[in-house]
Amino acid sequence: MADLTTTIGKLKLKNPLLLGAGPLSGTAGHIRKGVDAGFGAICAKTATLSPFLQKYPRPLYRLKDYAVRPDEPFHIPRDYMWLHQEHNSVFPADKFVEIVREAAPYCKERGTVLIGSFAGRGIQEWQKIVTAYAEAGADAMELNFCCPFPPEGLVSDPTDAHLGIYFSQNPDRGAEVIRKLKETVDIPLFPKLGPGTGNFLQIAQIFKQAGADGISLFANERLLRIDIETGRPVNHGPCAGTSPHMIAATMRWASEIVRETKLPVLAGRGVTQWEDVIEMLMAGAAGVEMCAAVMVRGMKHVRAVLADVEAFMERKRYKGVDEIYGRALKHILNNKQLIEDVRALCAEIDLKKCIGCRRCGEVCVYDAIEELPKKNRIMEEKCAGCTLCTQVCPVCAISVKERDNDDDHFRALAWEHQELMPDLFKGMTKGKGK
Ligand SMILES: Cc1cc2nc3c(=O)[nH]c(=O)nc-3n(C[C@H](O)[C@H](O)[C@H](O)COP(=O)(O)O)c2cc1C
Ligand code: SF4
Ligand code: SF4
Repeated sequence: MADLTTTIGKLKLKNPLLLGAGPLSGTAGHIRKGVDAGFGAICAKTATLSPFLQKYPRPLYRLKDYAVRPDEPFHIPRDYMWLHQEHNSVFPADKFVEIVREAAPYCKERGTVLIGSFAGRGIQEWQKIVTAYAEAGADAMELNFCCPFPPEGLVSDPTDAHLGIYFSQNPDRGAEVIRKLKETVDIPLFPKLGPGTGNFLQIAQIFKQAGADGISLFANERLLRIDIETGRPVNHGPCAGTSPHMIAATMRWASEIVRETKLPVLAGRGVTQWEDVIEMLMAGAAGVEMCAAVMVRGMKHVRAVLADVEAFMERKRYKGVDEIYGRALKHILNNKQLIEDVRALCAEIDLKKCIGCRRCGEVCVYDAIEELPKKNRIMEEKCAGCTLCTQVCPVCAISVKERDNDDDHFRALAWEHQELMPDLFKGMTKGKGK
């Protein structure tokens, strides 16, 4: 049996799947349900001391492009969008401490890590509440530097403007909070970064220097969708949102931060299926967070995801999570490697397989495909090796081969304007090829 246990810095987890902070971890009862569902760690709902952020507009949750058909088994579409108007816990942070105190023994007895989440304003507030969480039994803290988004209007008093995403937008202030908290508590601290705040690698580096034990990526993005039937925004206006396709941005930043800082990264946003968990681990995430997908699918989704992760590991003969962790990192090329190491390509059609559907010709941007009677043919001299045709051929009749000569690649790209690059085309008659 594959071993799903893993470590994230000092924390030991029975598996790398974490429940992201949200309503599913908003009370002790919810946290217990998350533990029973099988999560390796639970990130508790963020609490604040800002009364304004404890109130939410309605409706709270909206699904866009989420087709539910009675004749199909329940599944999560790959392209739906989740939009919500939920802010911080309705319990002020000093009351949420009691929820942590109640839930912590249940988590401990079952080997589930409990991570608290607080969004503070001044340093003293951060120190007081994070100390209380640690004493109440939180194994680690996510420092909410991600949401809500007070600079965009959710401000009841001026101190609320220095809350949540403010600390990602002003990383030096975030670093100050981390430094002070490191002097105060000895549980691991994971600043959770806000979306759209620029160069996350630079921010992570600043937080590493300040003593962060890891980085958590990302809270929801601030998004807007319009209902075209009514001409009105979905759910009042910009709201917090997530979608399966947003996993790509998380993965990109997770891999860069892991590679450059070596800090453990808790990565989420868009994680929906078991394949996403494997992908995130391969991209270097130490733990993978999931929130909206569990909300739309229910807690039973967690067991299914974990069972499928385990089945994959067995099929691929991975004995443990450490064999998957960061597996893709060494294959991620930088720009210099891309230019210097990657060979030019050319496509080839196997005429025995080709059924003459013409799809490859329709997609070839470089006009490198010629129509023969009932077949298509690649004109090698014009093929830029983009490989799009290989991916639309319904019978897999197109393969690619490496070019011997890089000049062929330049010639293919410059074909239409041969006069601008005359040296490349010396000795050739325009339009006829070599
Ligand atoms: C309804 C809802 C409430 C959330 N509340 C919080 C929160 O209080 N604190 C926080 O750090 N993240 C919060 N999040 C963000 C999630 O923890 C997670 O980072 C985000 O949803 C992206 O992951 P996902 O695509 O798996 O949902 C919330 C997400 C949802 C859907
Ligand atoms: S690889 Fe690209 S350029 Fe070459 S034939 Fe196919 S679609 Fe055209
Ligand atoms: S897409 Fe494939 S089957 Fe269709 S014409 Fe091109 S090579 Fe032939």
